[in-house]
This record gives sequence, structure tokens and C-alpha cells, in this order.
Amino acid sequence: MTSTDVTFRLLEGRQSAEHVAELQAIHAQVYADPPYRRDADAAQFADRLLVQSRQPGFVIAEARHGGYLVGYAAGMPLRSATSWWRDLTTTLPDGLTAEHPGRTFALVELLVRASWRRQGIGRTLHDLILRGRPEERATLVVAPAATAAQQAFRSWGWRRIARTRDPADPASVADVLMIGLPAIGSKEQN
Ligand SMILES: CC(C)(COP(=O)(O)OP(=O)(O)OC[C@H]1O[C@@H](n2cnc3c(N)ncnc32)[C@H](O)[C@@H]1OP(=O)(O)O)[C@@H](O)C(=O)NCCC(=O)NCCS
Repeated sequence: MTSTDVTFRLLEGRQSAEHVAELQAIHAQVYADPPYRRDADAAQFADRLLVQSRQPGFVIAEARHGGYLVGYAAGMPLRSATSWWRDLTTTLPDGLTAEHPGRTFALVELLVRASWRRQGIGRTLHDLILRGRPEERATLVVAPAATAAQQAFRSWGWRRIARTRDPADPASVADVLMIGLPAIGSKEQN
């Protein structure tokens, strides 16, 4: 842990669904800011979290100061029939997008409240959710304009492999990033 008085823990799907109101509130706050400026749709967020939390292997890493949620990361293994690679705007070889159990972990959220950033909380959440994963690799989608996230992911070893239609805004494109696993153990050995 790099930030004093902040505690980190991993929650499984069923436990995370119990925190839906808190997760929705922090998500709405972060995505109301630039570059996103998205209007919150609480019902849509709750529905999505409910669906995700029922998927095998769905996991959340949360950071709290006292009881106050200051950031979280979420992810799950991709299923063989995943739609993850469906909306690419660049062509990737079939071998790269073919999924089977144990191949790919998708990091679907990583966010920290603005006033808690640049203290290593994002990095700690990232490392906590990826540490010890059994999959070969991890992937995520990030908006090109999300400068802080882009910079952070590059410095943590992620590389852009393609572009896709942004699931949150189908009119625009987003970057698909990938990293080999285990990313955390190998970094610590360097
Ligand atoms: C990306 C995010 C989670 C990082 O959280 P954080 O707690 O600040 O992360 P850390 O303190 O561990 O690392 C921050 C790193 O991000 C990068 N970074 C953060 N803010 C930056 C900025 N304004 N400009 C450039 N790089 C920045 C730097 O590499 C920085 O490392 P450094 O502090 O050692 O220089 C946070 O900025 C966030 O919530 N952004 C909005 C949500 C988002 O875009 N999430 C990603 C969607 S996939």
C-alpha cells in the first residue's frame, strides 16, 4: 500500500452487487468530469453491474479511506463467446482474438476520485486486481482523450493493439490495450 490510511480489498461478484449504490455514485462523479462529461444513468449502471457481477470470475478491487470509497477497479475473464473483439475498427489476426478459458482477463473499470489521484491508489488497485491472475493476458478499452489513464497504462506496461468503437459512446473510437500476465510479479523482479 502506498497511501497511508487507505485500505484495499478484493470483492467477488456477489459481494460487489451489495455495493451498487456506492459504486454508481463514484462512477457518476468521475465520468461527469472531462474528458468524459457523461450524464449518469443510475439504472443503466446498476443493470450492467448486476449482469457483470453474475459472470464467472467477476472481481472488484476497492480502495477506502475509513468507510469512504475513493476508487475501484473491476474485471472478469473473457468467455469464449465474448463480444469484446466484435467492434474493432482495425483488423487483428484470428489467433489474437480467439478466446478460451484461461486466455484473457478484461479490466473493465479503473477509477479514482479526482481529489485522491497521484498517490499511487490507481496503481495499487491495478496491481491488486491483476496479481496472481491465471490468464495469459489482460485487455482494456480506454478513450484516446483520457490522458491520465493513457499515460498511467503505458507506464504500467500496457500496449495499444487496436481501436474499437467505444462501448460507452458508439459514435467514437477507443483504444484497445493489452498486457501479458503475470504482469505484476515480472515487474517486481526487474
Ligand atoms: C487513471 C486513474 C485511475 C489513475 O489513478 P491515480 O490514483 O491517479 O493513479 P496513480 O497515482 O497510481 O498513478 C498515476 C499515474 O497516472 C499518470 N497520470 C495521472 N495523472 C496524469 C496527468 N494529469 N497527466 C499525465 N499523466 C498522468 C502518471 O503516469 C501517474 O504516475 P506518477 O504519479 O508516478 O507520475 C485516474 O486518473 C482516473 O480515475 N481517471 C479517470 C477514469 C479513467 O479514465 N479510468 C480509465 C478508464 S479505462
